[in-house]
Amino acid sequence: MRITLEIAAKLISSGQVVAVPTETVYGLAASASNSEAIARVFALKNRPADNPLIVHVADAAQASQIAFCEAPLFALASRFWPGPLTLVLPARLNCVSEIARAGLSTVAVRVPSHELARGLIALSGAFVAPSANVSGRPSATAPEHVESDFDADFPVLDGGDCRGGVESTVIALDTDGSWEILRSGGITREALESAFGCAPRVARESEGPRAPGMKYRHYAPTAVLVPIAHRGDFEVATHGCDAVLGFDDTPGVLQLVSLGERGNFEQNLNRLYAGLRRLDTDGYARVAVDMDFARTGLGAALGDRLEKACRK
Ligand code: TXA
Ligand code: MG
Repeated sequence: MRITLEIAAKLISSGQVVAVPTETVYGLAASASNSEAIARVFALKNRPADNPLIVHVADAAQASQIAFCEAPLFALASRFWPGPLTLVLPARLNCVSEIARAGLSTVAVRVPSHELARGLIALSGAFVAPSANVSGRPSATAPEHVESDFDADFPVLDGGDCRGGVESTVIALDTDGSWEILRSGGITREALESAFGCAPRVARESEGPRAPGMKYRHYAPTAVLVPIAHRGDFEVATHGCDAVLGFDDTPGVLQLVSLGERGNFEQNLNRLYAGLRRLDTDGYARVAVDMDFARTGLGAALGDRLEKACRK
């Protein structure tokens, strides 16, 4: 069910859960001050209770009501707000729901730039929102994606397609006082490096999951995905596949689901989750994935999501 901003704000204020567009993906929003509503978000998504949520706030001042923001690096990082950067900071424990934090002493917080998300915060206060997909499925970048994972009656604040198409970058303060990238996303490592004056460390999965969400299977369609690193290997490597998820110039004779021009990462990310979802609606069983692209700039986020989607 498509709803207006005013209705969405009323539903959130009365403890309901509503899907909300952001500049990255749709979120499943509940009031940050209502623990029962937050618990319902976990239940709806079938999300493990140890995977904390991002609190969406209006600005840095509102962030400082739930987190300790005085680290000198906060000023540098919060320059990216409003926008797709999430900061993991020490939480003001009494000011943010324990369920949303998954019991951790930190809280993830971001300031969205999407007009409707901002409007919702202005009318009904800070909200928590994980991506509006059933856990493990590709994220939702259009109202139809939300309706397909939940149902047609689910309340969706309709903002059309999300512009960014990939989730926010998540960074956390490391023990040495520098920022560490826990999840690549809409703000690139290169942009962070130029703002911070040094390259942030990228958390390695071999070090154990730094963001609890990193240990779960993600973004995956039902089809089995077969990653192919080099275009030259396509003929042999796609044996047994019935389609390819790739780019306009991906070679081969199989049915192609294209993410657009190779190397045009903005376009590729914008089409990513719709492309992954199409593999299921078209009914493919085994799909080769063209992974032959640079992992620089937004290519890092594209590589991360496709690698996770390929993992069984
Ligand atoms: O763009 C986005 O970030 C979207 C939109 C809706 O805002 N939201 C989103 O939320 O992607 P979600 O729940 O799908 O991903 C949040 C990630 C998870 O990997 C989670 O483990 C991590 O952030 N996270 C949340 N709180 C954390 C914390 N206190 N410490 C470490 N990681 C945290
Ligand atoms: Mg998610």
